[in-house]
Amino acid sequence: MAIRDVLKMGDPRLLTPALPVEDFASPSLAQLIVDMHDTMRVLNGAGLAAPQIGVGLQVVIFEVNSNPRYPEAESVPFTVLINPLLTPLSDELEEGWEGCLSVPGMRGLVPRHTALRYQGFDAAGQPIDRSVNAFHARVVQHEVDHLHGILYPLRIRDLRNFGFTETLFPGQNLQDD
Ligand code: NI
Repeated sequence: MAIRDVLKMGDPRLLTPALPVEDFASPSLAQLIVDMHDTMRVLNGAGLAAPQIGVGLQVVIFEVNSNPRYPEAESVPFTVLINPLLTPLSDELEEGWEGCLSVPGMRGLVPRHTALRYQGFDAAGQPIDRSVNAFHARVVQHEVDHLHGILYPLRIRDLRNFGFTETLFPGQNLQDD
């Protein structure tokens, strides 16, 4: 078990596009996924992308457990998604509040596609092909943006909708991605 440091906005590695995984049998890939999982859990994140711990590979993980305080957020099973390809299933965009472990203590209102298909591979190299919507779609878009060097503040349309979590949502214990 290894908890890794999460890079913060300002580190150029977060702005660098990640490379595809080519060797799914590599022990270093398995160790990367274990470290990402441990790091996400200890920080109570909803998702994590490899570049956030300084590894420039196209690997993201995410998981959203049901939370009685946010009954509208459906739970998302723990997923390892490698070399992802996203295809929007609707032109419709919806604004929603996001946080990020690389932008700690902040929240911003970000437009995302409401429905999309994502394809890629799991940790064993088996294909993944899911069509999802709502919060699940938002989390995937946030994580895959990290692989393209995009942090969510870059997508905020009106920076008046960007601020400190404790001020915007006092008393709430929100997850970051
Ligand atoms: Ni993030």
